[in-house]
Amino acid sequence: MSTTFRLESERLYIIRFEPTDAHAEFLVKLFNTPLFIAGEGDTGINTTEKALHQIRDGFIGKAFEKNGHGPYLISLHDGTLIGNVTMMRGDYTAPDVGFALLPEYTGQGYANEAALRLIEYATTSRESGGLGYAGVFGFTSNKNAKSKKAMERLGLENRGAYPLEAFGGHPSAVYVTKGMDEDLTVYGIKEGRLE
Ligand SMILES: CC(C)(COP(=O)(O)OP(=O)(O)OC[C@H]1O[C@@H](n2cnc3c(N)ncnc32)[C@H](O)[C@@H]1OP(=O)(O)O)[C@@H](O)C(=O)NCCC(=O)NCCS
Repeated sequence: MSTTFRLESERLYIIRFEPTDAHAEFLVKLFNTPLFIAGEGDTGINTTEKALHQIRDGFIGKAFEKNGHGPYLISLHDGTLIGNVTMMRGDYTAPDVGFALLPEYTGQGYANEAALRLIEYATTSRESGGLGYAGVFGFTSNKNAKSKKAMERLGLENRGAYPLEAFGGHPSAVYVTKGMDEDLTVYGIKEGRLE
């Protein structure tokens, strides 16, 4: 696992998860706040052991193995861990950005700053050190008002609600970076638009 990856923004660093107790304990803390559970549901990742497994071989380890990108930690410049920002890739040809913060770090634009930096990395050409994607999605439950607001603050365009299979067929709000094709089947979204 690389230990040298780090993206920098004005107030933040975006770094890789490492299989350490500190990172595992942080993941447990982040995934079990009432704010996180209200927005993303209960992941069941509630012990350091389970979190270490996820970092090594679970959704984090597997994402990097398959795609070379996935969930990252967000830290302040002094090293304090405050949340995560994700660039996942499922069945579609474009990846999707996501974010979560500890409640005490919300309301300060940190998710916004981290996600903008990660989108920049994802859409920078491979020759210039990025991931080389033409655009990225943002998916969130259509009922998650805080997340929808955060997606809009990122400048992503709302393309309506879709019953995405990856999210159990529940209505998901689909956001895209500007310039992405109007026809989302181009990216492999086969589910029909609900609204
Ligand atoms: C989604 C989530 C990360 C949003 O957190 P957030 O702090 O509201 O998000 P942002 O970083 O965009 O911050 C925006 C807020 O900071 C304020 N802000 C302060 N300084 C700012 C700055 N420099 N830049 C931008 N916004 C700033 C904004 O006014 C806004 O406040 P408001 O919501 O009261 O209007 C948070 O609710 C969360 O962790 N939820 C649980 C996980 C989840 O549901 N994730 C969504 C799945 S993708």
